Amino acid sequence: MGGQDIIEALHAQDRVKGLTHSFYKYPARFSPGFARAVIEAFTRPGELVLDPFVGGGTSVVEAVALRRRAIGIDVNELAVFVARAKTSPLGPRNLKEVERWLHRLEKPRRTIVSPSVNGMGRSKGVPWWLKITIARLRRKISALQDPLERNFLCCALLKTGQWALDCSSEFPSSRQFIRRYVQDASEMICGMKSYVSEGKRSGLSTLQQFRSMRRLVCRSVIEAERDARLPKQWLPAKLVLTSPPYPGVHVLYHRWQIHGRAETPAPYWITGLQDGFGGAFYTLGDRREKENRSYFRGIRIAFQSIRKLVRHDATIVQLISFSNPDIQLSRYLAAVSEAGFSEVSLLESRCSAGRAWRSVPGRKWYAQLKPSHSAREVLLIHKPA
Ligand SMILES: C[S@@+](CC[C@H](N)C(=O)[O-])C[C@H]1O[C@@H](n2cnc3c(N)ncnc32)[C@H](O)[C@@H]1O
Repeated sequence: MGGQDIIEALHAQDRVKGLTHSFYKYPARFSPGFARAVIEAFTRPGELVLDPFVGGGTSVVEAVALRRRAIGIDVNELAVFVARAKTSPLGPRNLKEVERWLHRLEKPRRTIVSPSVNGMGRSKGVPWWLKITIARLRRKISALQDPLERNFLCCALLKTGQWALDCSSEFPSSRQFIRRYVQDASEMICGMKSYVSEGKRSGLSTLQQFRSMRRLVCRSVIEAERDARLPKQWLPAKLVLTSPPYPGVHVLYHRWQIHGRAETPAPYWITGLQDGFGGAFYTLGDRREKENRSYFRGIRIAFQSIRKLVRHDATIVQLISFSNPDIQLSRYLAAVSEAGFSEVSLLESRCSAGRAWRSVPGRKWYAQLKPSHSAREVLLIHKPA
């Protein structure tokens, strides 16, 4: 694996799938193939991959499956919850138990709530019958003894909730929701099995070994080097593989949009997580701020912290998009350079000005960009200066 494989993986337009990647559609996700190509090119088994803006954990899933150690950091509790669910292996006993639980769910004894025909159309909020259905499922899940099974089924509820509220044009009935929930969880069981067998093929022999390959920390990367939760014995990292928030681009990491409009904090109450922050908290500043000053200051300080967490020969690989690349790319590069990194070129071929750009398929956020700037991410590679 090398530069050419990374460029090919970068341009692949496949749907995000495989292993546990489809557990949740985290906004602005990496393509798993790209993450895999980068990890294989720049690390060997046992070496450390750091993702300081880990989001839904694509990099960590791929790193563990390839028997690399991985540290993921994110300010968003939802991101850490999803990354943990995707990388916590469930063995055959747990999976059997989950299957039995789902089987019982398919035969409801009580009448399930259902809306009138008129109630199923469009609405500004989460409809009452889905609130009740989700709350009932949550109660059933919390009665389970095993935390791994609870988190897995709660992540499945998040997945189905996202389908019902964030992605659908019509609300499903309670019965349709439950049917879909069982289907989603069953697909997740297959994903979990392939994650475990992939890790085993790479040499991870026990589930305990899987768990001990990754650490996920909910906090800002700024000053993360002082955090006692980071495993000091693993550091410094050989590779940083990451995708920071995008300047000036409207991406909602902490909300779903009901029918593309009204924003709901539903992902937090479905999972029982803390939210309580405004959008700017998750994007290194308000995207409408003049010249995005807070954002670029945040990037510089974040990369100063990252500098303290990496080896002198580390590689820093980033994918990023800009609302206005003509102005923002050079400011971004200046911030990273001030933090102590120099840009290097991966491959001259197929790159403009030594950098590779990719067009992004089917992403919500890019519909909001100006056509000329739309749907493009740039691959940036740096080394410590
Ligand atoms: C583009 S997303 C990462 C997506 C990820 N590559 C994936 O595949 O799912 C950027 C992430 O940065 C997180 N973030 C924003 N500010 C942060 C900070 N100061 N420290 C750590 N994470 C932060 C956001 O919460 C968001 O999850």
